[in-house]
Amino acid sequence: MTSLDPGRPEQIAADLRAAFEERHGTPAVAVGRAPGRVNLIGEHTDYNRGLVLPLALPHATYAAAAPRSDGRIRVASLQDDATWEGTVAEAGPGGPQGWTAYAAGVLWALAEAGVDVPGVDLLVDGRVPLGAGLSSSAALECSVAVAVLAVAGRELDDATRRLVIDACMRAETEVAGAPTGGMDQTVSVLAEEGSALLVDFDTDETRPVALDLAGLTLLVTDTRVSHELNDGGYAARRADCEAAAAELGVPSLRQADLAAVDGISDERVRARARHIVTETDRVLPVAEALATGDRDTVERLFALSHASMRDDFEISCDELDAAVAVAVEAGAVAARMTGGGFGGSSVALVPDERVEAVRRAIDTEFALRGFAAPAHLVAEPSAGAG
Ligand code: ADP
Ligand code: GAL
Repeated sequence: MTSLDPGRPEQIAADLRAAFEERHGTPAVAVGRAPGRVNLIGEHTDYNRGLVLPLALPHATYAAAAPRSDGRIRVASLQDDATWEGTVAEAGPGGPQGWTAYAAGVLWALAEAGVDVPGVDLLVDGRVPLGAGLSSSAALECSVAVAVLAVAGRELDDATRRLVIDACMRAETEVAGAPTGGMDQTVSVLAEEGSALLVDFDTDETRPVALDLAGLTLLVTDTRVSHELNDGGYAARRADCEAAAAELGVPSLRQADLAAVDGISDERVRARARHIVTETDRVLPVAEALATGDRDTVERLFALSHASMRDDFEISCDELDAAVAVAVEAGAVAARMTGGGFGGSSVALVPDERVEAVRRAIDTEFALRGFAAPAHLVAEPSAGAG
């Protein structure tokens, strides 16, 4: 049974500082840390100006940085041999490729926002599984931003946190080319320990929701079906949502209601819009239910959410459907797929005494069906970047 350990932050940072010094012959002056996330409800609603309820994982990405006197930027990762070197002007769209687009792109976006970005050496170490729908990319971006801003002498106050979110979103959409919404960067920066973060993308308001998880574990299962958010499926969903809003004559699907959606002419576009409108309506009741320990409501709305993603939004897959169904059969209170979809992870709310049984049942089912062995992790609501 594979279990993904977030590691001890102080130890990871110390090891990273040692690796940095060995590589560059000079000590790092700052280590940024930013977490991955698991979303509890509200999927694909962020770019439709809807509501989301993610929480930050204890699993994070760490970025060590030291200034360079020649103004150049160099990025490297302990998870990937590819490196990138150039100026901040060269770090924008069309410049860095692959994973380095996420990291170097952040520096370009910070400079675009008016930050006097110093030349830096950067080395990152990630503890968020890559491509598992748990936002390793946002964790990477935000850890780099925090490290570079520390080198630049900026304090991480509220205004700087907002700046980080915006710059990281620009790096992801404009430099890495993944047309995502803002949920992942927002929670990676603003999350508070013990709480999920309710975000309203119509007003940009955020509110921590303290979770009543007494006797319950949030079990995340990475199906190991690797998803790619820049390969077309995500963008196609986004285009369908925009087409639906255009047909209804509203600025976004946040302003649409179900009766209007029923009149959309194209069947596929209608189903996509139905997911967005019903999913947004599920977010506040789930937030309330998780805050008060109302398990029946969470069970019902997680099930509806999963079915909506499978049937209307068509972003699930056999492995995700199996993980969700088996978790509930084996004693989970509620389960659903989480994140962008097309693979990635599921999240289940499991009574503490059933956690081992649920993990075993999923592992057994995956083996029987010839799926790759899944990995599990426990999602303790953790603090945002620092
Ligand atoms: P997710 O964000 O759900 O993990 P994405 O496909 O959006 O999935 O982002 C994963 C990509 O982010 C990886 O393929 C890689 O390019 C990049 N990445 C994330 N963390 C690291 C890291 N520690 N080192 C190198 N690349 C990373
Ligand atoms: C990805 C994406 C987010 C959000 C999510 C689905 O994680 O980065 O912005 O759209 O999928 O809810």
